[in-house]
Amino acid sequence: MHTLTTISGMRAACDALRRSGKTLGFVPTMGALHEGHLSLVRAARAQCDAVAVSVFVNPAQFGPNEDFSRYPRQLENDSQMLAAEGVALMFTPGVEEMYPPGAATFVEVEGLSERNEGRMRPGHFRGVATVVSKLFHAVPADKAYFGQKDAAQCAVIRKMVRDLALPVEVVVCPIVREPDGLAMSSRNAYLTAEERQWATVLFRALTEVRRSFDAGERNASRLAETARAIFAQVPGVVPDYIEVLDPDTLLPVDVADRPTLVSVAARVGSPRLLDNIVLPGRAP
Ligand code: PAJ
Repeated sequence: MHTLTTISGMRAACDALRRSGKTLGFVPTMGALHEGHLSLVRAARAQCDAVAVSVFVNPAQFGPNEDFSRYPRQLENDSQMLAAEGVALMFTPGVEEMYPPGAATFVEVEGLSERNEGRMRPGHFRGVATVVSKLFHAVPADKAYFGQKDAAQCAVIRKMVRDLALPVEVVVCPIVREPDGLAMSSRNAYLTAEERQWATVLFRALTEVRRSFDAGERNASRLAETARAIFAQVPGVVPDYIEVLDPDTLLPVDVADRPTLVSVAARVGSPRLLDNIVLPGRAP
């Protein structure tokens, strides 16, 4: 595995790979890698001849009161994991490389960026869209891999790629979970033992929604109410939102009669966790 820290070096390495006739898959990450990230790497390996992974904790997507400075950083460990997965190129730029002093150009996906998770985190998706478009320039690839875990992020990236006609195919991969259902996340490391127990309520609430849907319920408010009732059983967990949405526009739906995103965010102690499921709509 080659590790590169400059945009020009990374671009040259990707171009050389592709000139030799290989297809390239790209997995953008912020590091502290776990099985969720590795599932994206494995999907990329299965579908492309070579894989590139970026590890960059992007300051532009953290709000002033968020965890940028204490976000877990484990570059040496990440590097070993990626080498073991057969990754060809790792990109680990510094902040100054991605944001030269005085950088004043941003990518804003209007509308989507203010909905769902974006409503709770003003400026977050402007930071995500900006860094991902820059990463796409630094890592020219055939396909780029994202996790369904961050459903709003997937909607924002898909729309950005379409609106700007970026020459990359976006592939979305399923959520990888712990055995008790908790969606894997680098932020799970912040949970105390007690909070870790409480955190299972996110997936339990979503599972109950799915059960109600399978029993025939299609009314969005009643589906959301099912989740709310499960959250109410765990006082240590405070939901930020429970939303029933169109997965592309992130606008609320009244009736889940087509593929529908059920998205939850909750504070479990101080950490904030996300989870979601997609209800299949009419088809079983
Ligand atoms: P990060 O949180 O490190 O996640 C990198 C990728 O891994 C994202 O596409 C995310 O959805 C995916 N992922 C995380 N946990 C997952 C899980 N349990 N199952 C499946 N996929 C999972 O998302 C970001 O970084 C950043 O916003 C980034 C896109 C890199 C831009 O800075």
